[in-house]
Amino acid sequence: MGNLAADASAAHPVLALDGITKTFPGVKALDSVRLHLFPGEVTALIGENGAGKSTVVKTLTGIYQPDSGQILMDGQPVQFPTAQSAADAGVTAIHQETVLFEELSVAENIYIGHAPRGAFKMIDRRKMRDDAARILTSIGAKIDPMVRLKDLGIASRHLVAIARALSIDARVVIMDEPTAALSQKEIEELYELVDHLKAQGKAILFISHKFDEIFRIADRWTVFRDGQFIGEGLMSEVDESDLVRRMVGRSVDQIYPKRAAVIGNEVLKVVGYSHATEFEDINFTLNRGEILGFYGLVGAGRSEFMQSLIGITRPTKGVTRVGGDICVIRSPADAVDAGIVYVPEDRGKQGAILDMPIFQNVTLPSLGRTSKNGFTRMAEEFALARTYTQRLDLRAASLDTPVGSLSGGNQQKVVIAKWLATKPRVIILDEPTKGIDIGSKAAVHDFMSELAAQGLSVIMVSSEIPEIMGMSDRVIVMREGRIAAELSGDALSPETLVRHAAGITAKGEAA
Ligand SMILES: Nc1ncnc2c1ncn2[C@@H]1O[C@H](COP(=O)(O)OP(=O)(O)OP(=O)(O)O)[C@@H](O)[C@H]1O
Ligand SMILES: [Mg+2]
Repeated sequence: MGNLAADASAAHPVLALDGITKTFPGVKALDSVRLHLFPGEVTALIGENGAGKSTVVKTLTGIYQPDSGQILMDGQPVQFPTAQSAADAGVTAIHQETVLFEELSVAENIYIGHAPRGAFKMIDRRKMRDDAARILTSIGAKIDPMVRLKDLGIASRHLVAIARALSIDARVVIMDEPTAALSQKEIEELYELVDHLKAQGKAILFISHKFDEIFRIADRWTVFRDGQFIGEGLMSEVDESDLVRRMVGRSVDQIYPKRAAVIGNEVLKVVGYSHATEFEDINFTLNRGEILGFYGLVGAGRSEFMQSLIGITRPTKGVTRVGGDICVIRSPADAVDAGIVYVPEDRGKQGAILDMPIFQNVTLPSLGRTSKNGFTRMAEEFALARTYTQRLDLRAASLDTPVGSLSGGNQQKVVIAKWLATKPRVIILDEPTKGIDIGSKAAVHDFMSELAAQGLSVIMVSSEIPEIMGMSDRVIVMREGRIAAELSGDALSPETLVRHAAGITAKGEAA
């Protein structure tokens, strides 16, 4: 008889898309695609930046209406004219950029739109708080349901978004790059949560650019390319290079194109940087043309230190020297004046002006202060924007396109382009390729490497060992707010990185 459950589910997807097309002005985001989601199984949706993944999610949750095609639940055509109607049918999503409300409490954010009600249809606040606490606990989140969202960090906010999705008793759970903002421990907890949802028979759609994660979690795969359905199948029948080839349309050798660069004089020297709670006694130098990697587990204090270095937060102690001279940086504007720019990990917020065209976003900080005859200015802006966006493999219909209508990964490329275009002396890139597809990654790395060869100094915060190993001339490992090691040459290996980051001695004991 074989595997009865598998045979039965193969015959009956809970949810299916059939011939769905969605066009935006100038872009066919989805071109007659199909998709099948099965009970108790995880389907990974894989595709490059702009392939149409988030558009599918928005179509399935009533945010976008397809131009044509059908959505089927249990084989019956359904329509989701509103987000509410999709939720009522049991389809819920954790979006790539979830909209949450800063001023509301965690519990209110989880239950907004479907709060439990008691007598006289009044919101039952007590039940809301208790239910929120229960859901948060069930996903391993130690978050007080009564705190305001604005007091939470980005990882916790993400857990709130997950709790919100789970507060709706769903049959279909969609996760659009859910682990991008999470620490390793939270990622493990998310995987457990997914296993738990599978055991409850929910159908899960999982979107990620991380192949290790896809192989860990998914039962099936579906690939889209340029808004078209390319194929689907079982994870057990493919390997990573099969999927990459389908996704990119060619094979990709994931080699890091670091060029040998002449490393020059000291550009930046940081002495004794300390903060009340986040980091302690950070010392290092950065030289001209050097790429200095900062490795560590999420939460090691790397981003907090970088934010302090550029004046977003205040250190309690510490001196910065730029080109040998002491430099007091009290704000990001001071940092820019000193030639230091920071591209944060959370690019959504500090990143781009969404309703402004790509070319203006890219050139805003570099040409912002020049005043010129309108035509020259515009031509100059276009040329600058074209160079930088092409080198980062940005996919857009034109440079006039508003950034808000780009896919998530392409928005990130705009933000990176914009800061590189200021031609800084030092650029700090926090997780530069997070959310960027495997095909575009090499372009981003290649450009970084070329700019370093021209004399740019780069600090690259990354939690990805291949990226750190492949791109850095030298690596600083941080652990619990301190520098645990500085590694280069033969001392730099995946094992030493992990050991220092986790605080394990060579004998394998915890330090
Ligand atoms: N609201 C919109 N207006 C105009 N074009 C849009 C809009 N939303 C998406 N698009 C376009 O549709 C295409 C698909 O975008 P989508 O966000 O679905 O990509 P994605 O696969 O999720 O990519 P990523 O991996 O970068 O998140 C892109 O070309 C994008 O620019
Ligand atoms: Mg997306």
